[in-house]
Amino acid sequence: MAALVRACSDPLTRRYTSVPDPYTPEDARMFVHAGRTDSAMPLAVVADDAEGTVLGAVGLHAVDMHRGRTEIGYWTAPWARGQGVAVRGLRLLADWALADLGLRRVDLYAEPTNLASQRVAESAGFVRGNIVRGGIALRGRRRDVVRFTLLG
Ligand SMILES: CC(C)(COP(=O)(O)OP(=O)(O)OC[C@H]1O[C@@H](n2cnc3c(N)ncnc32)[C@H](O)[C@@H]1OP(=O)(O)O)[C@@H](O)C(=O)NCCC(=O)NCCS
Repeated sequence: MAALVRACSDPLTRRYTSVPDPYTPEDARMFVHAGRTDSAMPLAVVADDAEGTVLGAVGLHAVDMHRGRTEIGYWTAPWARGQGVAVRGLRLLADWALADLGLRRVDLYAEPTNLASQRVAESAGFVRGNIVRGGIALRGRRRDVVRFTLLG
């Protein structure tokens, strides 16, 4: 839990994702125990070591089985960045959503200033789309975002 709190208290993660801010041990407990629902499937990415070190998280949200689409989001803990964690986690979960859930489209939204996330999206095979004006609401403010899409 302490590692999750440290990871989610990182300024970049607070700036670009919807993690609770401030992030408390109770938020970490809720994340770990959050189950799969009809519209959300959160997943922690942990290292395959004895401690199960937290590396990051990737999750589906706004899953729409009827329309065959979902959105996907991710963050990497500051101590695990630059090692391909986000690209691998993103690709694995997106492929699972397309192949196993049977969805046809996965969208992700990155802010124009978030160059690292845009690079992650392109490296994972997502195709850059248009700017969506006010496409996401973060901390009560609508923000412009670039849409990236992976089709099944
Ligand atoms: C964006 C983020 C998830 C990247 O995680 P990561 O695990 O370090 O990314 P990877 O190691 O998989 O790197 C993937 C690519 O991005 C590039 N990259 C990583 N950090 C970068 C940066 N600061 N600027 C430019 N490119 C960057 C890498 O060089 C790599 O490029 P390549 O595939 O061409 O070699 C991480 O910085 C983060 O958690 N940021 C805060 C949360 C966030 O922005 N989430 C996404 C919201 S849309």
